[in-house]
Amino acid sequence: MEDKYFNDKRILIFCSAVIMSLFLTGIPFSLFAAITGECANCHTMHNSQDASVMADYGASGKPWKGSGPNDALTRGDCLGCHGIGTSKVVTLGTSEIPQVYHTDATGDLAGGNFAYILGTKGSGASDAKGHNIVEIGDAESTLSEPPGHHSPSSIRVNITCSGITGCHGKRASGEILKGVHHKNVDGALDTSDQVYNSYRFLYGVKGFENTTGSYKWQNFDKDNHNEYFGATTPMSYTGCNICHTPQGIQPTNHTISGFCGTCHREFHTVEGIGGDTSTPFQRHPTDVILPGSGEYASYNGVGNQYSVQAPVARTANPIISISDTVIPGTDVVMCLSCHMAHASNYPDMLRWDYSAIELGGSGGCLICHTSK
Ligand code: HEC
Ligand code: HEC
Ligand code: HEC
Ligand code: HEC
Ligand code: HEC
Ligand code: HEC
Repeated sequence: MEDKYFNDKRILIFCSAVIMSLFLTGIPFSLFAAITGECANCHTMHNSQDASVMADYGASGKPWKGSGPNDALTRGDCLGCHGIGTSKVVTLGTSEIPQVYHTDATGDLAGGNFAYILGTKGSGASDAKGHNIVEIGDAESTLSEPPGHHSPSSIRVNITCSGITGCHGKRASGEILKGVHHKNVDGALDTSDQVYNSYRFLYGVKGFENTTGSYKWQNFDKDNHNEYFGATTPMSYTGCNICHTPQGIQPTNHTISGFCGTCHREFHTVEGIGGDTSTPFQRHPTDVILPGSGEYASYNGVGNQYSVQAPVARTANPIISISDTVIPGTDVVMCLSCHMAHASNYPDMLRWDYSAIELGGSGGCLICHTSK
């Protein structure tokens, strides 16, 4: 027994040394960041204990919390685990759960916060502040389909966290999010041929997830943010299969803007932005290079520091680390340069108050359009 223990320990020390040297040499590799802890923290076998339901792990009394049973035998539905707190990260046993619906005044995680739509955080309720997902129980009141989608639109106006009408996981008939949380890969996501090795479980999307300590899941500042994958040209509309694949709907160019484009096609494709990747455009381009000359060359002022107010995407694959600098002539504009993904405190789900951005001012658009 003792020998085995020491052998195991030596193997462990050897492996640690190899991993440490990978860090030091900067060779890219992905981190395995699976959840830990007792099964019962997250699962219920029959959804019954002493004849009471066990579903919904979080604080009770919230409107969206059903009574279960849930897919994959979990104690909550998606918001039952990801929308339970007053803080942006909640601890459950030995696992931390990133929160997408909360009232934490210290900030939101990178995707934004669905609480702005219902007004439980921010300047007041508005459907224009985000994606009215079915799970928040508040139907979209203005739009009747995703702007820019194929017509006649067969997509539901109120989308879901996952499944065929959703964003995370496999987007195909009968699919639920499964086999994913226990295999989650962090850091460089350069494969994206499975949900668990795709960026934030967005099937097909590549990128680099911020794993630095207390900044995990956040776009905090130039040194602590996710890195998004982009391309130097958007998808071209060559037919249905740029989105519909045998594995379900996914962005076949693997970029974050291509992902948004699966539902908002016209706003992303080459045809939609005006026919090619050079000025003049007819819609604001995404997946085109930030020119290395003119006003773009001084992105965010001297030193071109990365701005979490108007972030860019990178075209390297894999993206090996977080960089604090933007390189005009190389990096690309993306949907998330201007928008949040879930919801923000501003109309059109923008990162900033567009009505406050004016010529000669600062912030927002002017971080890239520096001479306006
Ligand atoms: C029983 C609780 C629980 C339920 C239910 C649950 N999650 Fe999670 N989720 C977690 C935990 C814990 C993590 C953190 C994993 C980690 O640290 O890598 C997580 C992480 C995530 C992440 C971030 C992964 C990353 O890249 O870091 C996404 C996206 C996500 N969940 C989506 C969902 C969706 C969509 C649903 C509903 C279909 C769902 N989750 C249901 C507990 C849960
Ligand atoms: C921190 C929360 C958490 C803990 C702890 C946890 N699970 Fe899970 N598990 C989930 C979530 C969330 C899902 C559903 C979504 C998914 O598969 O991504 C899941 C899915 C599963 C699945 C079905 C899909 C798959 O991955 O194969 C099995 C089986 C499973 N868990 C078994 C277990 C067992 C056994 C334990 C204890 C040893 C355990 N889980 C502990 C959160 C947890
Ligand atoms: C830009 C990406 C994109 C393109 C291109 C595209 N679709 Fe879709 N399609 C979607 C999305 C996203 C949905 C929504 C799934 C849902 O909510 O049911 C969808 C839904 C559908 C549905 C409803 C059934 C289902 O699978 O959800 C049909 C049918 C469909 N599309 C047919 C087509 C056909 C035919 C073409 C080519 C003429 C096409 N689509 C091109 C993205 C696309
Ligand atoms: C699964 C389909 C789907 C995907 C993927 C998707 N959207 Fe949407 N989007 C919708 C639908 C449906 C609406 C209209 C309903 C709503 O706003 O709740 C919408 C609305 C919007 C709005 C307007 C909000 C409002 O209510 O006025 C913005 C902005 C937006 N999406 C941006 C994005 C961005 C950025 C991404 C990528 C991070 C994205 N969308 C990905 C389906 C999608
Ligand atoms: C992340 C950087 C970035 C941000 C933020 C940004 N833009 Fe742009 N914008 C670009 C790039 C790159 C181009 C294309 C330049 C080229 O190729 O000539 C562009 C082009 C334009 C054009 C010219 C289109 C043409 O035909 O040449 C206008 C107008 C414009 N942007 C307005 C805005 C406004 C308004 C905002 C804020 C709502 C904004 N942009 C935010 C990067 C950005
Ligand atoms: C340069 C900043 C910028 C970029 C990049 C950008 N948007 Fe927008 N978006 C806006 C602004 C500003 C509005 C407000 C309406 C307008 O000016 O057309 C808007 C509005 C929207 C709307 C709501 C339209 C409606 O009818 O209510 C959707 C949906 C949307 N954007 C999706 C996207 C998607 C998807 C991408 C990437 C393919 C994207 N946006 C890239 C700035 C941007």
